[in-house]
Amino acid sequence: MTTWLNATGGLRYHVRAWRYRASLWAPFRRAIAAWLVEWSPPERELLLVGPSGGYCVDLGFARRFDAVTAVEIDPVARWILRRRARAALRGARTKLAMDSRDYLSPRDGRFELEGVRALCDRYPRAAVLFCNVLGQLPLLGPEPTEESVLPEREGTFEWWLRALPAALGDRSWASFHDRLSGSVRPRVALPTAPVAWRSSEALVEELYPQTDRDDEVLNDHRTSELAAPLVRSAFVWELVPSVFHLVEAVSVRADAPAVAADGRR
Ligand SMILES: C[S@@+](CC[C@H](N)C(=O)[O-])C[C@H]1O[C@@H](n2cnc3c(N)ncnc32)[C@H](O)[C@@H]1O
Repeated sequence: MTTWLNATGGLRYHVRAWRYRASLWAPFRRAIAAWLVEWSPPERELLLVGPSGGYCVDLGFARRFDAVTAVEIDPVARWILRRRARAALRGARTKLAMDSRDYLSPRDGRFELEGVRALCDRYPRAAVLFCNVLGQLPLLGPEPTEESVLPEREGTFEWWLRALPAALGDRSWASFHDRLSGSVRPRVALPTAPVAWRSSEALVEELYPQTDRDDEVLNDHRTSELAAPLVRSAFVWELVPSVFHLVEAVSVRADAPAVAADGRR
């Protein structure tokens, strides 16, 4: 698949962004901007992984860093991001770079940690922000079967996601990513206080109106295995009219022990 037509973003995503970025997406963008300020990692370098054209990430946030590298496989996204970032970083000393290498996609249907380790080796001092990319990666792997989603089985996406925090080492990192999506709006109040991990079933029960309608189907983006011991925030993103994504966000700072759901540090 060509990188500018990839299933995780591509031209259709850019068209949607230009259409809805300033309208339908505005509440979600504001919520993510506030969450980023809360995170504010101490590192001087930042990696934006999968930022697309920077539509949902407040590029003004990048001004606090000396160097920002966008790790993005889509050439159209890199071109748009460069133009948008130029405006957002005007007058700042922040250096912007692009890295088109693919550190995350599965190889021969298996998710491996080598790519993440290569990313960490190449940027040893950078904080990492996964920009709504982790919930898209399963689209690049094998069709889910009972076996292929087991977190205990090496090479599955669930296994990879569970191992990701340790592979990132002692640096700060954060991710906002899809958990569930569908035609029903989840009940998430803003601003959200961080809460403990919940299974997809518990999220459906707590945040969605109960219904028997066959046309109200939710997609599970298979991100539940990420950093399950840590607290997380939840946001709603209306991607197109009447398609709602429940987005979860987790963050870790290198200089502050992560907060576990039981309050332990
Ligand atoms: C849903 S979009 C992210 C939206 C974006 N954060 C925004 O602000 O609008 C997912 C992005 O991840 C990128 N992507 C997919 N696989 C990737 C990979 N292996 N490495 C880096 N970027 C990737 C896609 O090209 C796409 O731009």
